[in-house]
Amino acid sequence: MHQDFLPPGIAVLTGAGISKESGIDTFRDDGGLWTRVNLEEVATVDAWFRDKKKVLDFYNETRRAFRAAHITPNEAHEALARLEREYEGEVTIITQNIDPLHEMAGSRKVIHMHGRDGEVRCMVCKTEFASDADLTPESVCPNCRSIGELRPNIVWFGEMPIHLDEIYEVLERCGLFIAIGTSGEVYPAAGFVLHVRRYRPRAHTIELNLEPTDNKALFHEHIYGPATKVVPPYVTRILKQGWR
Ligand code: APR
Repeated sequence: MHQDFLPPGIAVLTGAGISKESGIDTFRDDGGLWTRVNLEEVATVDAWFRDKKKVLDFYNETRRAFRAAHITPNEAHEALARLEREYEGEVTIITQNIDPLHEMAGSRKVIHMHGRDGEVRCMVCKTEFASDADLTPESVCPNCRSIGELRPNIVWFGEMPIHLDEIYEVLERCGLFIAIGTSGEVYPAAGFVLHVRRYRPRAHTIELNLEPTDNKALFHEHIYGPATKVVPPYVTRILKQGWR
């Protein structure tokens, strides 16, 4: 089909809720990561400068537990991969998750705005590379040889999410914005729905979540339930009938 006749794009924002049924804890639900661990001590830039060992130990341990659990994508990730395969227009997943489950399910256009598990970055020379090795305050950057400057390639509180220019371009050309499994408490992701409504006043916006979020009033439509139960039928519906 010629580019000019492509139907409007679909932008999908995903959060921890989509991976919950694959066995990964969310952050803010009962028993979620930030209810058990003080995020100020492990997931902020301040924490890094205060106590590198504590921060690195936390991520070393989390990564090891994650690898040992052999996590796999669930029906919701698979439904989004099917949407990208079968929809004639552009489908982009903007995920706050660091896990690789969208890619494992077959999605190709995935933007990880909070970084990715299994990647390391040097604070000095900014080199990024794939690595599953434990990091310590003595780790040496293979590029610039700085000591104690390697960290997980994950966006911490107090840092700017990555790929924002590309994300806002996607939002500004979409006809449908879907938010799945995100509490809407962390900006700028929580503000994407408003951005779509301002820049694409005719676009449709929908929240699919276990329960209503604080952002609820900003969406035109809502479907509540576990992602594995609500995402596949929603994808089937829009592929068959569109979203109006
Ligand atoms: N299906 C759908 N939604 C679910 C499910 C499920 N099975 N289980 C939980 N949820 C919903 C919860 O109701 C909640 O609204 O998922 C949401 C998870 O919210 P958070 O734990 O706040 O996760 P998220 O929105 O992804 O957090 C954003 O905060 O800590 C940072 O960087 C971290 O990317 C993360 C960001």
